[in-house]
Amino acid sequence: MRVVDAFRQTFGGEPAGVWHAPGRVNLIGEHTDYNDGFVLPFAVPWGVTAAVRPREDDTVRLASLQANSEPQVLERIDQAEGWARYAAGVFWVMREEGLPIRGADVMIDGDVPQGAGLSSSAALEVAVAVALDDLYGLGRPKIELARIAQRAENDFVGMPCGIMDQAASVLSKEGHALFLDCRSLASRAVPLDLAAHGLQLLIINTGVHHELADGQYARRRQDCENAAKHLGVASLRDVTDLAAALERLTGDERKRTQHVVTENHRVEALIGLLRAGAVQEIGALLIASHLSLRDQFEVSCAELDVAVEAAVKGGARGARMTGGGFGGSAIALVAEEKADRVREEVLRAYEERGWAAPTIYPASAAAGARKLA
Ligand code: GLA
Repeated sequence: MRVVDAFRQTFGGEPAGVWHAPGRVNLIGEHTDYNDGFVLPFAVPWGVTAAVRPREDDTVRLASLQANSEPQVLERIDQAEGWARYAAGVFWVMREEGLPIRGADVMIDGDVPQGAGLSSSAALEVAVAVALDDLYGLGRPKIELARIAQRAENDFVGMPCGIMDQAASVLSKEGHALFLDCRSLASRAVPLDLAAHGLQLLIINTGVHHELADGQYARRRQDCENAAKHLGVASLRDVTDLAAALERLTGDERKRTQHVVTENHRVEALIGLLRAGAVQEIGALLIASHLSLRDQFEVSCAELDVAVEAAVKGGARGARMTGGGFGGSAIALVAEEKADRVREEVLRAYEERGWAAPTIYPASAAAGARKLA
């Protein structure tokens, strides 16, 4: 394994083990996780692999095949910079929570397509979390490891994300999507056998990342919290009478609430269709989700909108942006025989606008984090 060779070269000797954690796409349930709502992501075949060896002191040495720089040698965790903060944050949280974690040598290798919005950062956090859990025999439940990874991103890196990406990376099962109730943290694997229905899910990676993404993410989260406060509920999950709630809200808070409440219903509806074997029918929900994210939650962008419109024009049964928004990827549900036409339509739409061609590849639902060696 490449990551083991790199470990030997950089640190000398052998790693104690090698762990893999995948990235994710989200089928539906967008911007619902931090509103105590429902999500339905699945793990992708790309992710982060970590070769790790524990140390007898508290020093953490972090290196990555994707970083063109010397290993970062951290005497203190807060010395981590750039990509290494996502890995270091996991050490920080575990120590902060009193878990018996000492130092480690960590070599990272990743193959999540860059800028695709497929949660390479969550994969990195989770790879380190499962490695430390194993190496130190912590025996933390999987969802706990997801929470630790999320907290690393919230409190150490400073990005106020929900728990979806980390949970998908830890808990996903091959051939299944992961239904997660972000309030109770109860989860269920939902069979997702698209091929049996002659369908494919294409990932359309726009390759763009608009700079405002992080700031806007925090603002949306704030809008949702303000709306919940106005309505006197703990979170937007608790809105049961949408029409009555909308009458009491104005402006952005009104729009955000409309999205979150209807998106939760769409997750439940989509699961109902999957359970009924009506996979063909989920396309309409994907489109409705996209329009709601575009018009009510206002996190889409021209590149995502054009990808979705062109995919549908090319014959996709449905399409939507996936992930946080402002760039990254869209997904399109297509009948196998229409995949080429959809692809051509999207490429043509980008070319017409003089935009760099997006990369388009079929997604399959992969397994969650695991020890490789
Ligand atoms: C990002 C965050 C997730 C989630 C999505 C939007 O991926 O990391 O927690 O909020 O955006 O659904």
